[in-house]
Amino acid sequence: MEIHEALQWTDELIFAKTGKHLDSLQRAILEGVWEHKGYQDIAEEYHCSNDHVRKSASELWKLLSELLGEDVKKKNLRSLVENQFFSYSDDAVHIGNNINLCSDLYNNSKRKKNRSPSTPKNQSEPRHDLSQAPENLRFYDRTNELATLKQWILTEQSRIVTLTGLSGIGKTALARQLVEEIKDNFDRILWRSHRKFPTLNALQSHIIEFIAPTSPIQNPSLINYLNSRNSFLDYLRTHRCLIILDDFQDTLTPGELVGNYCPGYQNYGRFLEEMGRFSHQSCLLLLSWEQPLEIATLEAEDCSCKSLQLAGLGKSASQLLTARKLQDKPQWSRLIELYNGNPLWLNIIATAILELFDGSVEKFLSYPLLYLGNIEPLLKQHYQRLSESEQVLIRWLANQEQPVEISQNPPEFLSNSDFFKAIQSLKKRNLLHKCSTLTLDTVMQHYVRNLSL
Ligand SMILES: Nc1ncnc2c1ncn2[C@@H]1O[C@H](COP(=O)(O)OP(=O)(O)OP(=O)(O)O)[C@@H](O)[C@H]1O
Ligand SMILES: [Mg+2]
Repeated sequence: MEIHEALQWTDELIFAKTGKHLDSLQRAILEGVWEHKGYQDIAEEYHCSNDHVRKSASELWKLLSELLGEDVKKKNLRSLVENQFFSYSDDAVHIGNNINLCSDLYNNSKRKKNRSPSTPKNQSEPRHDLSQAPENLRFYDRTNELATLKQWILTEQSRIVTLTGLSGIGKTALARQLVEEIKDNFDRILWRSHRKFPTLNALQSHIIEFIAPTSPIQNPSLINYLNSRNSFLDYLRTHRCLIILDDFQDTLTPGELVGNYCPGYQNYGRFLEEMGRFSHQSCLLLLSWEQPLEIATLEAEDCSCKSLQLAGLGKSASQLLTARKLQDKPQWSRLIELYNGNPLWLNIIATAILELFDGSVEKFLSYPLLYLGNIEPLLKQHYQRLSESEQVLIRWLANQEQPVEISQNPPEFLSNSDFFKAIQSLKKRNLLHKCSTLTLDTVMQHYVRNLSL
């Protein structure tokens, strides 16, 4: 995108909202920042003080943040403007069956550059944006999970479906495969990672713009409309949308029992409540390490909300080991069992087996301890998210010789109440298995045991 296009687009956007065009200093700031210049250089070229430029720039970023629904700063201005500019082009999204997995906005700029950013899209055509979803190169099995998810989403028209599981278990891969199989049932499909959105408002504005893109330049009142919470549900009523929100655990605060939102993200709880309780024809598919508290309540109240705790791949993981060219097939089921069928962990361990034992699973398994290798940093991330009482409990459980019954007295250092709360929380994090005895994830158990050595 050329600077003159960026200036014109930004000027029109601001004019539509404020009735004023960019002033000469604002233009100088945009041009300078576009070319990666510092405020000092811009000030010198404009013959004014550094402070004056900074103040004007900060007001401009604030205004643009409001208009674009994103946190605009000097360092992200260019990418945000380019993204918004090209999002008005038909090629940035995916029509019907013709799904483009890697939208490369920048490379397409030549084709798009003659188009007006104010051209609205045909709102009745299906539109699928999977540009932020990974490509599914190899996908094994998950037949039952796919059938369950289809039943919930297509047949029962669930409004929220949550897919939880430890890192690497295959949430993203499963959701990607699911979308491929059900995409024709939706007018709109949008896949986004929570990590890209600093606030819920930014996310909602982004979704609205995607569902019904009307140029803010043609329709200035859209800006206010975008920020209206009620209007969000209206869009989900008028269009059948599937919104996939990945990495949702990033909204939840570490160091506390599961389910508390990080500062600034508390409104996600209300958002989930609204999505679950009010009628609309769309579905939010949440992918998360941990289950948000609202989901259990909505599910219990039968609010068209379902959740699936994803387990390992089981026997099908042997296809993954075949692809990795490991040896000693009769030993594979033991290997899969040890690493809970987690495809990421198995891939990591397969690399270690190839590097250390020339691919011999038998030799690897003759090693007396469960080897964690590069799985350790992943386990550490999960462990560090636990509250103090969960860490106490998990360390205690990891060192028990016999299975622990829930009715058994809690460890002396935890009150009954803290004991039960910690158990519930660990289950929502997929670290304790759902059964009458308290069974820790075996790989996590080894990690925690090693911590106390
Ligand atoms: N059913 C499957 N068949 C083949 N490979 C799979 C399958 N499920 C997952 N994988 C592979 O395992 C790895 C981890 O999967 P994925 O990224 O989906 O995990 P995740 O649960 O989303 O993890 P995170 O919570 O860290 O995002 C990826 O390389 C993915 O391709
Ligand atoms: Mg994932």
